[in-house]
Amino acid sequence: MFAERKSIRKYKPDPISEEDLRTILEAGRVAPSAKNRQPWEFIVFTGVPKEEVLAKMEKGIEKQKKSLFMPKKFKQGMASADNTLRIMREAPVIILVLNIRHGNPYLPVFAGKRVSEILDTLSIGAAIENMLLAATRLGIGSLWIGNTVYAHKEITDYLGTKHQLAGAIALGYANETPEGRPKKSLDDIVEFRR
Ligand SMILES: Cc1cc2nc3c(=O)[nH]c(=O)nc-3n(C[C@H](O)[C@H](O)[C@H](O)COP(=O)(O)O)c2cc1C
Repeated sequence: MFAERKSIRKYKPDPISEEDLRTILEAGRVAPSAKNRQPWEFIVFTGVPKEEVLAKMEKGIEKQKKSLFMPKKFKQGMASADNTLRIMREAPVIILVLNIRHGNPYLPVFAGKRVSEILDTLSIGAAIENMLLAATRLGIGSLWIGNTVYAHKEITDYLGTKHQLAGAIALGYANETPEGRPKKSLDDIVEFRR
């Protein structure tokens, strides 16, 4: 199942049943978390609210593009953000994932707070991956989305929250069969010390 999961970037319009959606969310709910803090909240968007929140994301991306200081690397990121937005519009379900123990990621934080933020972010990653794997098991395609960072203010203002927007998940039935991205071999990434 782990290798079967692949990022899906083309979706059919078919809806996901409430039952399947709950199974996926349940997988997030039971994920491991640092000190069992369960620092997450999931907001599920479909239909008109989904269009509204994605309009806010577009606004944030467009604002970033107009910023005077735009290094080349950042420009490439904006193209990827545009593409991600297109994918999110096509997917019938978007889940926004909040980190409820932290706020604006663009503000500086003290070392102690940073350490706890890292642990909470890792916990959220576990919840997201659990949901992606649950979706895979149900034959539902998914994409993990970090490009919401480009519209952090616009989206959190729209939600009326001071919590951190950790990312999003797109869900839907796949309208593509991706080959799969190249992965490093075990030899590249593992060191045994015996
Ligand atoms: C933290 C995180 C953020 C990501 N953000 C995006 C994104 O905003 N847009 C996108 O198209 N893919 C995004 N991805 C998907 C990665 O590009 C993808 O996982 C990677 O290329 C490996 O492909 P695979 O998922 O098919 O194994 C993200 C993945 C992770 C883990």
